[in-house]
Amino acid sequence: MNTVIFDVDGVLVDSEAIAAQVEKDYFKTLEVEVAQEEFPPLVGSSQVGSLLTLAKNHKIEINTDEALSYFFTNYEKLIKQDSFAFDRAKSLILDFKKIGVKVAVASSALKAKVMLNLSALNLPLSTFDLIVTGEDICRNKPNPDIYQLAAIKLGVEPSSCLVFEDSLLGIASAKKAGMTVVGLTTSENAEVIATSGANYIISELSAIPYFETMEQLKLFLQGEESKVPPVKYGANYIKVGKSPFPKEFTIKRMIEMARKTRENAYAPFSGFKVGAALLSAKTGRIYTGCNVENSSYGATICAERNAVLNAIANEGVIGIETLVVVTSSNPPSPPCAQCLQVLAEFTKSEAEVILVDLEGNRTTYSFNSLLPLPFLFSKV
Ligand code: THU
Repeated sequence: MNTVIFDVDGVLVDSEAIAAQVEKDYFKTLEVEVAQEEFPPLVGSSQVGSLLTLAKNHKIEINTDEALSYFFTNYEKLIKQDSFAFDRAKSLILDFKKIGVKVAVASSALKAKVMLNLSALNLPLSTFDLIVTGEDICRNKPNPDIYQLAAIKLGVEPSSCLVFEDSLLGIASAKKAGMTVVGLTTSENAEVIATSGANYIISELSAIPYFETMEQLKLFLQGEESKVPPVKYGANYIKVGKSPFPKEFTIKRMIEMARKTRENAYAPFSGFKVGAALLSAKTGRIYTGCNVENSSYGATICAERNAVLNAIANEGVIGIETLVVVTSSNPPSPPCAQCLQVLAEFTKSEAEVILVDLEGNRTTYSFNSLLPLPFLFSKV
């Protein structure tokens, strides 16, 4: 594997919702109300294609030049927000470049949109070994043409290309071209992606840890299980994945992700926002959670439990290697006793629990010092 090819919309940039909003607004100017359900089937198709499909859905004719001009003027305004480029998109591209892997993009979109999207990454265009767009081919995704063209232009074998795609059309295109595909669940849910033929499935680029060789990346993508015997994490034995990443790097990343997720906390009653991140022992993936309160106070879910549920929903039973909790209090707050009990089911007793305040000050405890005697029905 010596080449990586990224789709752009829904992979490098979080553009699908913004594009849909602009298209919706355009049809509003024609007094047509486009429903949300009309957008998912359009993911991965060209801009003109989706505008024409929407027009057809509503049995109207549109002037494509006018529609495109409206689209670009308004799209450009809306993408100027920090969260537009996906977390990890830029650093991942740089990780690949650092180890000598060619990096290309292959997007069905018009060149103008691809360029606007890539500008959000703040990378010199020379970073990319190739940019191919919907304007370079006649038959768009799901035909293999765009990926075949990319391989030819790069002078590489399709079998040496790793593609990152989020849409069913895009995954089908890259697979037909004979490439290995990582399907992201940013636009479709994991069940849908699982039926797409993608070789690997991950939630989003930010799930990919730091790596120094393509082999390490492959091990991560495979959810690598090492040969060492399973280790007890709470009530479960987990095969621990070989972690190729420096510990401090992972902890910093966990803190950054927990802080970011904390901003999404729904805490109108207490006003106390909590962000949590946990590290899965099996896959090295990081999962986050925030607290979600409820008008019926007792139904509130804490950030730590939210993170555990998120992790299990994504990869089944987990082993918690490290937990980070970010709060505004000083000293930073520990997980509550209910959370500790839930965490205990999946956490090894020596796991580190790192409490962090908003200034980034850390206090570290071992899990068993916070809950020395958890209640566990051990199965083994
Ligand atoms: N909270 C957490 O998110 N984690 C804990 O371990 C303790 C408490 C939240 C729940 C509620 O939304 C707010 O903090 C105040 O109790």
